Amino acid sequence: MIQTSGLTKKFGSVTALDDVDLEVATGTVVGLLGHNGAGKTTLVNVLSTQVRPSAGTARVAGYDVVDQGAEVRRRIGLTGQFAAVDDNLSGRDNLVLLGRLFGASRSAARRRADELIEAFDLTDAAKRQTRGYSGGMRRRVDLAACLVGRPRLIFLDEPTTGLDPQSRRAVWETIEGLVADGATVLLTTQYLEEADRLASAITVLADGRVIAAGPTAELKAKVGRRTVNVTLRSVDDVATATDALRRNGFTPTGEAGSRVLTTPVTTSGELVAVVRAIDEVRVEIAELAFAEPTLDDAYLALNEKRHEHSHETTTEGTV
Ligand SMILES: Nc1ncnc2c1ncn2[C@@H]1O[C@H](COP(=O)(O)OP(=O)(O)OP(=O)(O)O)[C@@H](O)[C@H]1O
Ligand SMILES: [Mg+2]
Repeated sequence: MIQTSGLTKKFGSVTALDDVDLEVATGTVVGLLGHNGAGKTTLVNVLSTQVRPSAGTARVAGYDVVDQGAEVRRRIGLTGQFAAVDDNLSGRDNLVLLGRLFGASRSAARRRADELIEAFDLTDAAKRQTRGYSGGMRRRVDLAACLVGRPRLIFLDEPTTGLDPQSRRAVWETIEGLVADGATVLLTTQYLEEADRLASAITVLADGRVIAAGPTAELKAKVGRRTVNVTLRSVDDVATATDALRRNGFTPTGEAGSRVLTTPVTTSGELVAVVRAIDEVRVEIAELAFAEPTLDDAYLALNEKRHEHSHETTTEGTV
């Protein structure tokens, strides 16, 4: 559904996208992650034909974003569109109007608007002018607006930023429903829990470059850490247990005043070695947990690597 090759975008001296190769298979959700200014929005803008690439190519739904922009635009849903519609109209009237612009009959446009209003829990707000909407309501109407034309490819740039937990969950369920119906989604988010729940594959951008890409599960397994979390019976035992673990080659960490020690391990088999090391120094364990790597871990590890790397290059540069 999306295919880019060597995609590059420069704004003056800033390289917002640097040689990006991206592939998004039809019917999947791909999470696009990266620090502020990494280039996520720029990538969405290029793919949705709002910004022209400086170099490289991008095809969306089989069409070139530069030469066949109109074909691309006809097939995508994009949040932010709502900013273009009328603040004096109610949420429902705006959705009906958009439906009409997509060529639906009056009754079909009304039906679609009502479906979306229900899906986004906007029933109470539907009849009020959108100018009085709260930030979260506005965002939900924006998302509903992007779905009016039932696009097969949807760009969601931070769709749940600023939403309360119920609204966030409602948006997640909507996205899951869209994908179950065969839609493809490119999702940028700062919430790793959101990416983990929705995205089957992840691309991580840093300074405009792809620093990691692949199935979410693989990325976690490869980059994330497994840990053993040991809760000791007493906080007085923390120093003894820490020493014992260190002697056995582990690198435990814990917060000051806490009875919990966290130790990275590579296999679940090391759990036994952790317990044995603590048992040998006669420290009592109150609770023991093995934690699989999370996307948070993987993401942080990737960014740590990137910082180490950029530090190295800086050092080289100054020598
Ligand atoms: N229109 C523009 N003119 C000049 N520079 C721009 C423009 N748009 C983006 N940039 C720059 O390109 C880089 C990437 O910005 P972009 O908005 O794509 O990042 P992002 O990953 O979406 O960040 P955030 O998480 O903050 O939304 C930044 O350095 C930004 O300042
Ligand atoms: Mg952005």
